[in-house]
Amino acid sequence: MAKIQIPRGTQDIMPGTVELWHYIEAKARDLCRRFNYHEIRTPLFESTELFQRGVGETTDIVEKEMYNVSNPRSEDALTLRPEGTAGVVRSYVENKLYGSPNQPVKMYYLGPMFRHERPQAGRYRQFVQFGAEAIGSSDPAIDAEVIALAMRLYQELGLTGLSVELNSVGTLEDRANHRKHLLEHLNGVRDQLCPDCQSRIDRNPLRVLDCKNETCKTLTKDAPSILEYLSDESAAHFEAVKAYLTELGIAYTVNPRMVRGLDYYTQTAFEIKMAEIGAVETLCGGGRYNGLVAELGGDDMPGIGFALSIERLLLALEKQGVQLPVSVGIDCFVAIQTPDAKSAAFRLVDRLRSAGVAAELDYLDRKMKAQLKQADRLAARFTVIIGESELASGTAVLKEMATGEQQEIKLDELPAVIASRLG
Ligand code: HAM
Repeated sequence: MAKIQIPRGTQDIMPGTVELWHYIEAKARDLCRRFNYHEIRTPLFESTELFQRGVGETTDIVEKEMYNVSNPRSEDALTLRPEGTAGVVRSYVENKLYGSPNQPVKMYYLGPMFRHERPQAGRYRQFVQFGAEAIGSSDPAIDAEVIALAMRLYQELGLTGLSVELNSVGTLEDRANHRKHLLEHLNGVRDQLCPDCQSRIDRNPLRVLDCKNETCKTLTKDAPSILEYLSDESAAHFEAVKAYLTELGIAYTVNPRMVRGLDYYTQTAFEIKMAEIGAVETLCGGGRYNGLVAELGGDDMPGIGFALSIERLLLALEKQGVQLPVSVGIDCFVAIQTPDAKSAAFRLVDRLRSAGVAAELDYLDRKMKAQLKQADRLAARFTVIIGESELASGTAVLKEMATGEQQEIKLDELPAVIASRLG
């Protein structure tokens, strides 16, 4: 029979690697606790319309990358979530969280997202995002807070040399004012732009500024910047965000050409980057979405958030040679010198586990030497050896692997002794 392979752009996270994920996830959750963000779990699929309206009809995500899922018995048009913000805002509206006494509502999520992209290093079709959203405040301090939360995760994991790129894409009104002037410029060079940009001019001209094509970059070098068209309010907001970042000691560069690939952004937009992590350098992206709650049928509430993928984070850690302090070893291996000791060993392992000790024994009838090798392979901190004479006296030899130190101890006392020596 032919083997069935894993779908392109997905990966199995195997034992031995999953411990890194656990470590990062625990760090992310602990940071959210400290920053007072609470977890929300929304479905992996939502109605297709949510993303069409929320993320935007003309975005690459909605036009090309969504996995639409259906069942012949259902009429519902459903889509595997390509990102988390739309679902969180849908839930916020549906659960009337604008009425919650705790404002702003601060939530985070950690889970898989799905996009049909061309797979490459750091770009998958299923990837796990850690994201946070704060809904209900337009205070520029909270813009700085979400950027700080993402940066703190990277820093506490040991990454260095990251840069924050910051922009303001203004309000819808600011963008309408800018659009007229931008279109004048773009129409002047329309014929020389790449086919993608030619179609973007009419649908979403700001995105032309974000094109990676060198010719397009040169042709739009002197295009009017959105920053020149910010209203007084948007400009003041942008200045305040910068000032708060400075207060937190977070360095940033303003990139007036940065346009994020989702349509809901207003005012603050940001990305966290690391040079040379392969084809993709953006580790994290986010921004303000002051119109999204209303767009999805709620009151007119402002929001801001970010998302980053664990896959890109791991790639960055690998590039910088950062070793996370994860331990994969067990606490204690129980080896037996005679088959007669099997049930005593089996009982002891169970009692060790009850006492909180990660314990294992041999299930392959290995000889003593092979059992000790297995204890090594499992990186056991302690090995307990039960021999014939020990069995007779109800004792066993406890050996600490790092020091080689040995001690004979009563079987009954072993769980407590090992648990206390593990601290
Ligand atoms: P995004 O820029 O589309 O924004 O994605 C955010 C992050 O998700 C990226 O910076 C990257 O780390 C990761 N990511 C995206 N696509 C892939 C992929 N194919 N493979 C691996 N990692 C990927 C959003 O999703 C917005 N919802 C962020 C946001 C939250 N804005 C406001 N709140």
